Amino acid sequence: CDAFLPGSTFPLRDLVVVEQTAVEIYHKLELEAAALHQKLHHYLQVTARAGTVSPEDGGQCITRHHTDKPFIIFQVTAMEETLTRLEKTYDKNVVLATRREYIKVQMQLEECERPLFGLISFIFLSLSLCVGKPVVSHLNAHLNAGYKFGGWGRDSKPVPDRESMYWYSGYTSSSIVDIRFYTNYNSLILRNHFQHHNLHSGWYGTGNNFIIRDNTLYYQINSPFGLAKLNFTTMRYESRVIAKASTRFSYANSPNQNFDFAADETGLWVTYATAESSGRMVIAKINEPSFGVEEEWQTSVFKPGVNNAFMVCGVLYAVRTVDIQTDEIFYKYDTRTRQESYISVPFVRFQEKYSNLDYNPTDQKLYMYNDGYYVNYHLWFNHTTKATVAPPYRRT
Ligand SMILES: *[C@@H]1O[C@H](CO)[C@@H](O)[C@H](O)[C@H]1NC(C)=O
Ligand SMILES: *[C@@H]1O[C@H](CO)[C@@H](O)[C@H](O)[C@H]1NC(C)=O
Repeated sequence: CDAFLPGSTFPLRDLVVVEQTAVEIYHKLELEAAALHQKLHHYLQVTARAGTVSPEDGGQCITRHHTDKPFIIFQVTAMEETLTRLEKTYDKNVVLATRREYIKVQMQLEECERPLFGLISFIFLSLSLCVGKPVVSHLNAHLNAGYKFGGWGRDSKPVPDRESMYWYSGYTSSSIVDIRFYTNYNSLILRNHFQHHNLHSGWYGTGNNFIIRDNTLYYQINSPFGLAKLNFTTMRYESRVIAKASTRFSYANSPNQNFDFAADETGLWVTYATAESSGRMVIAKINEPSFGVEEEWQTSVFKPGVNNAFMVCGVLYAVRTVDIQTDEIFYKYDTRTRQESYISVPFVRFQEKYSNLDYNPTDQKLYMYNDGYYVNYHLWFNHTTKATVAPPYRRT
């Protein structure tokens, strides 16, 4: 499954060297941080008790004065040189341009060692996943910041003639009662829709984690509580009940987010939490023709601690809030291997809350409906796996 494929002449070898250096630094920092953490933990407890510093404040700066900074800076500089050189040769490569930009920004943030540590883990992790800067588009088509609940995006499997279509649905509560379609990005921004569908009142939905796929809206319905779809090609509705899915567990951000639809390179998914697993998330693969659940995976991540989640290449990524302007992809579950792990891929948020976050495999972007604003992010993934064991690249 390929979310991003570099061109055939892409200098993978050089990137591998950068990666190795990054891994080396990462481990070095990790060891140092672990040792320091123990020492500082004691110190922070003492000072916190004395009311001078909170463990959180101090904790962020744990590695500050103790890492082998000159050596790390030296290695980072070397990495940057490699990236610069690669960029000169392959200046159209957005991946490198962005990575380099990120490094520069981080280098300026040396007040505390945490950003530097963040930089190292970023480089390390970026080879598996990195999130670009938020692209803040516009306030929603209602021009109303009170329409905090909703979603926007593109069809993940567009029908012919609708490849460039965008959709938007927003409301003042976590419901879905209508949806607007726009020919392309410009008409979305100009709020010039070509279709406005009102859902039949018996088919109103809730929860904001709806998506459009194959010209069909997939959303959560409350009576009967379950999955619903509306095919705009035929205007036909269907619903399915998932008996064990619970109404009790929503995401941290907003109410009624019991079912979260997602689409990736491998098809259609829905996630939910169950009472039997005490609110841990379950991933279900949906068979598109029958609209039934094909297979399920039990994760160990507690849904109310998650802001939102999305799927890429059969892997679930869960996101939580770190601070006032940062969110973090903190957890992943690979349905192919049934392996789960905790990761840290931070990214910048624009407004405080968001009610809809979804990946779109047609453009590898993450779409977020962020307190009434259209926001998106570009994602990159590590797809050099095969190439690193393949013969060295040839320049043409
Ligand atoms: C929607 O309806 C069209 C026309 O019958 C059909 O070809 C398509 O598969 C349907 N899509 C979904 C997702 O049900
Ligand atoms: C990226 O791919 C390389 C090459 O197979 C692999 O060694 C490395 O572990 C991957 N990196 C991450 C962070 O997954």
